[in-house]
Amino acid sequence: MKIKKAIIPIAGKGTRFLPATKEIAKEIIPIINVPMIHYIVEEACEAGIEQVIFVTASGKFAVEDYFDRNQELEAFLERNNKHKELELIRKIGSMVDVTSVRQKEQLGLGHAVLCAKNMIGNEPFAVLLGDDIVVNQTPAIKQLMDVSLTHSGATVIGVMEVPRNETNKYGIVKGEVINEKTLRMTGMVEKPKPEDAPTNLATPGRYILTPEIFSILEKIPRGAGNEYQLTDAINVLCQTRDVYAYRFEGDRYDTGNVHGYLDATIDFALRDPEVREKFLASLKQRLNKHGISL
Ligand code: UTP
Repeated sequence: MKIKKAIIPIAGKGTRFLPATKEIAKEIIPIINVPMIHYIVEEACEAGIEQVIFVTASGKFAVEDYFDRNQELEAFLERNNKHKELELIRKIGSMVDVTSVRQKEQLGLGHAVLCAKNMIGNEPFAVLLGDDIVVNQTPAIKQLMDVSLTHSGATVIGVMEVPRNETNKYGIVKGEVINEKTLRMTGMVEKPKPEDAPTNLATPGRYILTPEIFSILEKIPRGAGNEYQLTDAINVLCQTRDVYAYRFEGDRYDTGNVHGYLDATIDFALRDPEVREKFLASLKQRLNKHGISL
């Protein structure tokens, strides 16, 4: 079955990005001049998603507005013959059908996904986390959709290899190896010590889920951090259904923390032909200015 809907939970508090997130939605903070959330929605659209469901909280209106038309700005750009800019912002306004649902209390990622239950119906759907940007020609979520299709529409969790000494920062999957890139999962372990980690395959925020996850999310107790964890629900699902972990291709950035954000900014500047040369020149100049030779 074609996957048409994606849930993008953005109701988190963004504490790793304070003080900016005191007043600005983290997702609107740009990498160069494009808000982070644009990349996530673009990935979903390129994978064929037709409807994006944001799970929002108070103070996140700018994300919904960003994907809406701005007729006043369009009229201004038209009057001033700024055709390129006009085309750019019109394109964003018609990128995808966007709806949103409120998470009234931030009770965790599992709870956020459950908030979108009524918008999903009885079909498999994608979940993309708003602060994990993945760059690849074939979108990461499309890679997972394709794997799901080859396994009769099963649940597929996107994973990436992490250094052994960093397993304690991630949810780590375990299971039986099917091929070089795929595991049939037997479960997940939340932030294991390197010596206890069953693999070094972490889950950075790309999922294909089936509606049966909702009835599990309705029953699970609070888990780590006293929150309802999607990880706990996936663990339950693994006991009764085939759940796959797939090592997707792509450069992944955790833009929810300052260093991941800087990595993304530098890589995006180096990839952009309009920015690259000037950026390299100013980088060299600034390294000199600070007496740094590499
Ligand atoms: P994070 O754990 O990264 O939380 O959530 P956060 O609040 O965004 O950031 P920090 O850790 O405080 O800096 C992962 C994703 O799940 C969403 C977040 O918006 C983020 O996209 N989320 C988390 C919710 O929508 N609701 C929640 O209750 C928790």
